[in-house]
Amino acid sequence: MENIENIKNPNNELFLAASQAKEKYYGKKVFFRGLIEFSNYCTNDCYYCGIRRSNKEVHRYRLNQEEILSCCAKGFELGFRTFVLQSGEDPYFTDQIMTKIIDDIRNSFPDCAITLSLGEKSYASYQNFFAAGADRYLLRHESANEEHYQKLHPPTMSLKNRKECLYNLKEIGFQVGAGLMVGSPFQTPEHLADDLMFLKELDPHMVGIGPFIPYKDTVFAGEKGGTVEATLLMIALTRILLPKSLIPATTALGTIDPRGREKGLHAGANVVMPNLSPVNVRNDYALYDNKICTGEEAAECRQCIEKRISNAGFIPDFSRGDYYLVLQ
Ligand code: SAM
Ligand code: FES
Repeated sequence: MENIENIKNPNNELFLAASQAKEKYYGKKVFFRGLIEFSNYCTNDCYYCGIRRSNKEVHRYRLNQEEILSCCAKGFELGFRTFVLQSGEDPYFTDQIMTKIIDDIRNSFPDCAITLSLGEKSYASYQNFFAAGADRYLLRHESANEEHYQKLHPPTMSLKNRKECLYNLKEIGFQVGAGLMVGSPFQTPEHLADDLMFLKELDPHMVGIGPFIPYKDTVFAGEKGGTVEATLLMIALTRILLPKSLIPATTALGTIDPRGREKGLHAGANVVMPNLSPVNVRNDYALYDNKICTGEEAAECRQCIEKRISNAGFIPDFSRGDYYLVLQ
């Protein structure tokens, strides 16, 4: 099989087919999500990740409940109606603390969607979060190939558990997001085919697809990063396989190419996730090198991305932006 990195110019027909598939359900809308990176403490040690436990160079931070709520309030003022709460796997945020935060956001912003991205938890914890008012959960599967998954993670982690979490989340009633990094170390085209087949089987509501970008203080510091071309190809194929899915044009894609997010939208993506985290902690949530948008205030980020979206011929949409079926 041709090496994925050799596909320099994924043909326009593919992008056209992906765009048509997307537009059938969502038109030219691009949905906004406000991202709040509320803690970079993590008990996990994923080999690729800048905030992994073994990285002693990271300045660790966690926002308190008041700070998280004030990020939401700022986001609400700016028009956001989805908040994405993301963190490392931080034991400080027990179910009790987390459900209190979710409950407060739910009561303060009843019309907003609450998305969580907190990693692997028990069925009971996921149930607690859902009962407290969370609507969506992002948990990338990272690789659907057993052997490859194991090369990216320490032996304490397993693909089996990750998949189980995703199916549990779905069963509980969350809109679920899976996904992967394109070009992660040891990844082959066959692995990407496994990813596509797994995505088809899981049938998630959202799929996060971004390039792998090496980070200096990780096991994979010296590895090559994923390419724009391969990432766009995976976005387009995923869109065609799962036409109703919500697919972000990721910050990682915007990091390896100044027009990366626009290119992602033309390849079938339909979501952007500007950062609402306080500027003073942005640099500490460094998953990979040269991450963009770490210096701008939330309002600047919103404006910048909104303008880029309009200029690229799409329609910025600040509604909750639920999965197509949920709207019926
Ligand atoms: N702890 C939660 C989890 O593991 O799902 C959420 C935070 S985790 C940092 C979010 C995502 O960042 C991961 O799913 C991974 O795909 C992505 N990520 C981590 N390191 C990366 C890197 N070096 N390049 C690109 N993406 C990366
Ligand atoms: Fe925990 Fe990346 S290793 S968030």
